[in-house]
Amino acid sequence: MDQISVDFPARLGVLQDVSLRVPSGGFRFVTGASGAGKTTLLRLMFLGIQPSQGRLEVFGRDTRKLSRDQKALVRSRLGVVFQDFRLIDHLSVYDNVALPLRVSGKARKGDRDYVHELLHWVGLGEHADVRPEQLSGGQKQRVAIARAVINRPNLLLADEPTGNVDDGIGIKLMRLLEELNKLGTTVVVATHSAALLERFDYPAIHLEGGRVKAAGQSGAAP
Ligand SMILES: Nc1ncnc2c1ncn2[C@@H]1O[C@H](COP(=O)(O)OP(=O)(O)OP(=O)(O)O)[C@@H](O)[C@H]1O
Ligand SMILES: [Mg+2]
Repeated sequence: MDQISVDFPARLGVLQDVSLRVPSGGFRFVTGASGAGKTTLLRLMFLGIQPSQGRLEVFGRDTRKLSRDQKALVRSRLGVVFQDFRLIDHLSVYDNVALPLRVSGKARKGDRDYVHELLHWVGLGEHADVRPEQLSGGQKQRVAIARAVINRPNLLLADEPTGNVDDGIGIKLMRLLEELNKLGTTVVVATHSAALLERFDYPAIHLEGGRVKAAGQSGAAP
């Protein structure tokens, strides 16, 4: 993204003059105090909002030039873990995770096994049939991660994916994201957890008051 600014009607300059590049296959943290603009930056990346100024490319495509169908295609290659999970309470854990498969219309034989495999991978193999409300914060977060990766996204955007769990579980969740990254998915994690930043040595895009203060070396763009 190049010289991006984001203004909301109620608040101008939520992001200001932000330029950065996340290389395909890379792993980046987005850091900064509460209100610095981390979630807003991720919303740009999943095409949830448009920049007020500047140029935004996702998968090398200028997002201003995308038709509705092309935007849908870009979104289908993204996985998002929302800060507030956004699980569907009246569906089971299994159905929450399987939902993107149904929505994408790519249902295939073997999906059932894959959903169960993924639930095991995030340590929720025994919880497939329960409702999200019966889960702890950390377990919900793992459902959200499983749902975000079920379609094998090219880019995973995770907003405070370890925000509601203690450091130990946070590190386990990060290891899941690392595994995914090793399989080729580009991963961007917004966090203000000092423990994670200390433990995992990935470049950080640091935001202060809506501006980038220090981008990871190889991720920085002029
Ligand atoms: N739709 C909106 N309208 C007006 N102001 C907004 C809107 N969305 C975000 N903001 C403001 O923009 C700033 C950045 O918000 P953002 O959610 O990106 O911060 P954040 O870094 O994710 O914070 P946190 O760590 O608390 O999640 C905040 O001051 C917030 O109040
Ligand atoms: Mg946020």
